[in-house]
Amino acid sequence: MNGPVLIFDSGVGGLSVVRALRERLPDAPLAYACDNAALPYGTKDDGWLVARIVAVCRAAVAASDAAVLVVACNTASTLALDALRAALPIPVVGTVPAIKPAAAFTASGVIGLLATSATVCRPYTDRLIADFAAHRTVVRVAADPLVAQAERLLATGSVDEAVVEAALAPLWEPPALDTVVLGCTHFPLLRAHFPAPRPVTWVDSGAAIARRVDQVLGAPRWAATPPAAAWATDAHRAGLAAACQAFGFPPPRLLAV
Ligand code: DGL
Repeated sequence: MNGPVLIFDSGVGGLSVVRALRERLPDAPLAYACDNAALPYGTKDDGWLVARIVAVCRAAVAASDAAVLVVACNTASTLALDALRAALPIPVVGTVPAIKPAAAFTASGVIGLLATSATVCRPYTDRLIADFAAHRTVVRVAADPLVAQAERLLATGSVDEAVVEAALAPLWEPPALDTVVLGCTHFPLLRAHFPAPRPVTWVDSGAAIARRVDQVLGAPRWAATPPAAAWATDAHRAGLAAACQAFGFPPPRLLAV
């Protein structure tokens, strides 16, 4: 195997998955691609998104010569995994909300799902809840403004605390809620800025994705390790190069779609 593991997201959210991949697979060559010209995905039409995600991933796989594609975006994965697997010649690993571990972990039986407005109401999410959390209460909270806040944090180092607090407020209404699924890859980047009026456990999908990539890669591993590389559909957006560099990637090249 020679090609890198390609991580794809609408924006910088996939960098939260990069962290977990590096912990599990420190020798794996990584490439990053984001469709930040179309950010955010969470408020866009499903039909348009499927075509766009397939086109962008096709271009990114060709540019990077990837061995595996990690769709590090819940909004894309809950919609377009089948289309991506049909369109691409390499294995595709998706990212979906960690409902199963959260449902197993909660002591009170009440969990929150914090995700984009698209992800919280997708049929894929309904099936995850029916299959793994039918005996739990799942409070679905659409938190699209947090996507822009995560982008802002990586670009400027600051967030608007009032926006973050307002987005999280519905989580604190059910007094028994004790576990929150971070069902958008942008959200783990903001964790240090989340106010928590009472202790809750935040669950994300990073470690599970890294385990799955490890399985898919199998052995043998890389003969020669290509350098890290990055692509973006809006490569010159302010702050993006710095965000990529903070996670070990060079400034992104333009991905033409
Ligand atoms: N990071 C993406 C996710 O995991 C979504 C962000 C967006 O709305 O573009 O859902």
